[in-house]
Amino acid sequence: MSQSFPIDAIRAQFPVLNREVHGKPLAYFDSAASAHKPLAVIEAQAKYLAERHSNIHRGVHALAQEATEAYESARDTVRAHLNAASTKEILFVAGTTDGINLVAQTWGRANLNPGDCIMLTRMEHHSNIVPWQMLAEERGVEVLVVELNEDGTLDGDMFEVHLAREPKLVAFTHVSNALGTVNDVKTWTKRAHDVGATVLVDGAQAVPHLAVDVHDLDVDFYTFSGHKTYGPTGIGILYGKEALLDAMPPWRGGGEMIDTVSFEKGTTFNELPYKFEAGTPHISGGIALGASLDWMNEVGLAALTGHEHVLTMHAHDVLADIDGLTFYGTAPCKAGVVSFLVDGVHPYDLGTLLDQLGIAVRTGHHCTEPLMDKLGIPGTVRASFGAYNTVEEVDRLAAGVRRAVSMLR
Ligand SMILES: Cc1ncc(COP(=O)(O)O)c(C=O)c1O
Repeated sequence: MSQSFPIDAIRAQFPVLNREVHGKPLAYFDSAASAHKPLAVIEAQAKYLAERHSNIHRGVHALAQEATEAYESARDTVRAHLNAASTKEILFVAGTTDGINLVAQTWGRANLNPGDCIMLTRMEHHSNIVPWQMLAEERGVEVLVVELNEDGTLDGDMFEVHLAREPKLVAFTHVSNALGTVNDVKTWTKRAHDVGATVLVDGAQAVPHLAVDVHDLDVDFYTFSGHKTYGPTGIGILYGKEALLDAMPPWRGGGEMIDTVSFEKGTTFNELPYKFEAGTPHISGGIALGASLDWMNEVGLAALTGHEHVLTMHAHDVLADIDGLTFYGTAPCKAGVVSFLVDGVHPYDLGTLLDQLGIAVRTGHHCTEPLMDKLGIPGTVRASFGAYNTVEEVDRLAAGVRRAVSMLR
């Protein structure tokens, strides 16, 4: 539990916590949007840029080889972290959005035909909706949407009703960024496979909080963003089963993803994972992403999950008796997110007043407009937690909300 979590030692590793915001110590509750970086990650990226930088895979000189080794070693760190069978299954992409677009544009274009249907859920982030909508419109494919129960869990009956239509793809988030719901990926994946569907899971909000084993979950595609796992922006991962990736046509063309190029004979493509990695990648980002996962493992994933669970439960406890406060997302299994609204108070005004107290929360629709529409609200106030948050900060949040509400009503 949080008493045994080495919170002081962890906080000491985050330079941003030394600064003040509006003259107050920073309480950062916006890790679901992007997490701060520990020194281990900042230093890994800086060291690479200062001492080892070169383009990768192409040079015989020492720096090129060192850079290649560091980048490929980060890929293996990701492989081990996700328990993937091979580094051929680990693609470096720009982030979750990029990973989903890659699958839509390659697997989707190759496998979805007019009259087919695909299945999404009401709790998806726009990045797991819009690429599919764009493709669905182009290919004449129907999009089925699984609705939610009151507590923000998936409606299992509706899941089954849609499955009976035998969708070609079932795509859903592991953890909801707006509600915090943790979906039972293993069960839903098994059911989807039973009807022959391919499964893509958006892990953007899961990998920062939970141990994820793609082999055990048996998902076909799994994607996440480095900047939410205490790593840099502009880098993320798409995991795909080797047989699927192998069968998929390449997406972006250019250097690195080719085997041979000829005006006369055409182009042949590189082996996995390079077939999907055209051009010079975000080398320092990949290396620092590996360092971020190493850092999380050093803290211990179970300890991290436990600490954030304590914070989430405590936030529910201390916010619950604020007059007129409603929580959105009360699933029994939640990770790292508390979303709420207070009667008569606009979330934006509440967020602005909290900011004056040094407390960073996010307000708005959290890129889940279809969910907000269904709930009949414009958005929520969202506090999301990371390794560096404390129970005392959560108490500050509750006191801040009380104070702001008394001023705004
Ligand atoms: C559940 C979920 N999916 C996808 C994304 C998109 O991530 P990115 O902007 O890093 O591509 C986010 C970002 O907030 C998210 O929370």
